[in-house]
Amino acid sequence: MNQKIAIDFIEKQDWLGEAGDAIQPVVIKAFEAGGETGQKIKNFLHGTWLGHPLHPVITDVPIGAWTVAAVLDGLELAGKNKYKAGADAAIALGLAGAVGSAVTGLTDWTGTTKKKRKIGLLHGILNLSATALYATSLVLRNCKGSRNRAITLAMLGYGVTGIAAYLGGHLVYSEQLGVDHTATSEEYPMEFVVVLPENELIENKMRCVKAGAIPVLLVRENGNIFAIANTCSHLGGPLSEGELLDDCRVKCPWHGSVFSMQDGSVVDGPATESQPKFDVRINNGQIEVRRAK
Ligand code: FES
Repeated sequence: MNQKIAIDFIEKQDWLGEAGDAIQPVVIKAFEAGGETGQKIKNFLHGTWLGHPLHPVITDVPIGAWTVAAVLDGLELAGKNKYKAGADAAIALGLAGAVGSAVTGLTDWTGTTKKKRKIGLLHGILNLSATALYATSLVLRNCKGSRNRAITLAMLGYGVTGIAAYLGGHLVYSEQLGVDHTATSEEYPMEFVVVLPENELIENKMRCVKAGAIPVLLVRENGNIFAIANTCSHLGGPLSEGELLDDCRVKCPWHGSVFSMQDGSVVDGPATESQPKFDVRINNGQIEVRRAK
């Protein structure tokens, strides 16, 4: 219940919405200004090549390193001075990881709106604050007479990191950011089912049909019919309302992910998971599909 109050409070913060309105277009335009290279960098940072968001992989570095530092700092405070150097090294490693976390997180944040964007922005602000505390701590560790102050700042940073990590977890587990939105609990048809009379599918026009409860996107190009799940794996956008590009690719109307109709693979992020692909056959003048194995 307390968690709900905290999240509702964040959602009511207009300043987060206004800051998002100001920052998000700047980041998006920076990638766009880079043209094809900018898009490649963006895809890399999203984790399109990994088939999984890259951000949560990298966040383990600062969280893990700073946890080690907290333990070693604790031992130092208990009088075991031999752990000093280890704590300092762990903090430096965490700072390096924090840079990667910030860049990948900011990139993923460009594909968010409304409540997710507000929570994501606060998550980022808290992480930047924690990073600043750790950076200051690292500097003070090498200044004579400042060791205890440095450890206090690191402990403070660890607390802030914990709150930021909680918000990151909320974004994934409650807001479903970064999860595969095609991994539905509905059953995909494993046997062929009729979806549309063949003569109703026009060449180079997208058509959304239902295979049981599953929305499926059909496209006919050069006489070949391709079918992939219509629900975008990124955040569930309806692909049939997007744009059909050349080379049999489709662009999601919500955040611009591009998928190949031929095999469902991600061409451009923010999506990182492929679209489920369907086998297609014509039977008695009807288009039939089943989930490709
Ligand atoms: S829902 Fe975000 S790109 Fe499709």
